[in-house]
Amino acid sequence: MSGLVIAMDGPSGSGKSSVSRGVARALGLRYLDTGAMYRAMTWWMLREGVDLTDPAAVAARCGEPELVAGTDPDGPTIHVDGIDVAGPIREADVTGAVSAVAAVPEVRARLVARQREIIGAGGIVVEGRDIGSVVCPDAPVKIYLTASAEARARRRSAELTGSSVDDQQAAMARRDALDSTRKADPLLMADGAIELDTTALSLEEVIGEVLSLVAKRR
Ligand code: C5P
Repeated sequence: MSGLVIAMDGPSGSGKSSVSRGVARALGLRYLDTGAMYRAMTWWMLREGVDLTDPAAVAARCGEPELVAGTDPDGPTIHVDGIDVAGPIREADVTGAVSAVAAVPEVRARLVARQREIIGAGGIVVEGRDIGSVVCPDAPVKIYLTASAEARARRRSAELTGSSVDDQQAAMARRDALDSTRKADPLLMADGAIELDTTALSLEEVIGEVLSLVAKRR
């Protein structure tokens, strides 16, 4: 399976992480969560007190942190300057700030270069927003996962304690709007991508659909 790259893009809550990890496990592939890399960069910027409303300030500092992302689908890891940030990058402060950091072209250039290094010769499922369009436009399999706004918010609020479906839906709509309308590498369906609406499907059904697409496309 080396050489194979599966690009898995879509908005937040569309099921990308669970599906990507399940597909990677089923095919014996590595797994890369590029969103975790943008979150880790954001965590570092917040800790350093960088003014995230100032893209020039973010651009000036984004070369400093050392990001290391592990690719085991059973336990993906993420470290910044040797610190394990897997927990902190899921906190509300990072989630609220990440889209502003990810909109800065210098941040994207740096992280896309790291992602391509990790992808290397392939054998990997890569999830994000711009994998099929920018990071790996030649990926032989490109999937664009969607789900209704309500289903996406329901899934996210089930993962987080103390968060209502309505609050989640509003927060996700804000993040998706920022991610889809930014100038640098916006969220979009890449050329050649296959759209899969997961609203009415179980996780196992979505994984099964992706595996059959992979079998057909290879
Ligand atoms: O996937 P996740 O929700 O963890 O991604 C967090 C944020 O990182 C997204 O809302 C988006 O702003 C950014 N991102 C991106 N490009 C990617 C992956 C994530 O801009 N390839």
